[in-house]
Amino acid sequence: MPQMKHIKLSFLHPPRDLECALEDTILTTLLAQQVPIRHACDNGVCGICLTRLLTGEIDYGTKTPRGLTTKEQAEGYFLPCIATCQTDISIAQPKVKLR
Ligand code: FES
Repeated sequence: MPQMKHIKLSFLHPPRDLECALEDTILTTLLAQQVPIRHACDNGVCGICLTRLLTGEIDYGTKTPRGLTTKEQAEGYFLPCIATCQTDISIAQPKVKLR
């Protein structure tokens, strides 16, 4: 049985809680649940999926978030395309709007 974590979409009113399998990236989970988020490289390089982590811990495993600047990282942003949930998390609205 895969263990599940929760992703809280705190920008929705009321906030919505998604279940996220430990082995799935946060981007995969958001897309599977029709949450709008832009993405391109799906490999932590382009920075398009940039999203702010409000609470909880994410894990990049063996991947490197190359699309993330030090400033963005310091401001709490992460790259959902290569991140998995380490704990239950809460996220802000993905930064880049859908066109
Ligand atoms: S989609 Fe390119 S960094 Fe996430």
